[in-house]
Amino acid sequence: MTTLNWRDRAKTVRDSAEDAVTRVTHMPPRRIRGDISPLWLDYKKTGSDQVDFLRELCGLQHDHHVLDIGCGVGRLAQPLTTVLSKRGKYDGFDVMPYMIDWCRRNITTAHPNFRFKHADVQTSIGHDTGVDAAEYVFPYDDDTFDLAYAGSLFTHLTPAAATNYMNQVARVLKPGGVFVSTWNMYNSDSEKLLPGRSLRHAWPHDMGEHRLKDELHPESNVAFDEVWLRPRYAESGLRIVEPVRPDATYSPLRVPRNIAASHLWYTTTIIAVVP
Ligand SMILES: C[S@@+](CC[C@H](N)C(=O)[O-])C[C@H]1O[C@@H](n2cnc3c(N)ncnc32)[C@H](O)[C@@H]1O
Repeated sequence: MTTLNWRDRAKTVRDSAEDAVTRVTHMPPRRIRGDISPLWLDYKKTGSDQVDFLRELCGLQHDHHVLDIGCGVGRLAQPLTTVLSKRGKYDGFDVMPYMIDWCRRNITTAHPNFRFKHADVQTSIGHDTGVDAAEYVFPYDDDTFDLAYAGSLFTHLTPAAATNYMNQVARVLKPGGVFVSTWNMYNSDSEKLLPGRSLRHAWPHDMGEHRLKDELHPESNVAFDEVWLRPRYAESGLRIVEPVRPDATYSPLRVPRNIAASHLWYTTTIIAVVP
């Protein structure tokens, strides 16, 4: 018989209490929601809008097999449970084990076709063990998924890791599969078009093809030069479907007036396909 120490027991009690609240609110607790995005961003509305976007513009079908990279605490998975049929499947992975635990307890138990995996990958924003993200092999076979999604994941990857993740996406998508992802992206016109929202202010460290908010914690917030990014798609075997667009979830239109959030003005959603 396994005996739990006091820490595990306290965690079990807290998890049960929070799961009881989730059964009423249909949302993760504030404590965890705050770890994936600011609390002023409406968790339910952004999630369901994102699913609408995938259905209306990215060809999502009821029986598709969907991959959610950096799935967090189910912002996409929860509304997707009402769209995917029993023939559809969802796989999500994330570096934060407690987020995966929450998703399994609160989503997989009711929807066994929604599965979550912990990715033991290093990041300077909270998980300092595991493999280098630039070498991580997604734990899925080639040609598995119809659609892969990464919401505000590439905003937390440096160039070598981002390149690897794009290669992995191209490997696990079926031919014709669709890849939807959000990025902080800039080009030489961006600052002229966004007066008062300088790149230097949002990401002070210019690293050449990308910019960082915090050099000591590179993954805390990363922006990419469009001139660097576009060829990476082609090299990964992914074709960008124009136009790239201001994102539905992290759009500056959702930012309250009293909040600066300069970086959100550079958010871009890119739809791509495996030809
Ligand atoms: C801003 S949150 C977005 C979460 C979710 N996609 C959403 O839209 O609510 C970024 C997520 O990426 C995860 N993450 C960061 N680095 C990762 C990596 N190398 N591989 C997989 N997930 C990662 C974080 O743990 C976090 O849950």
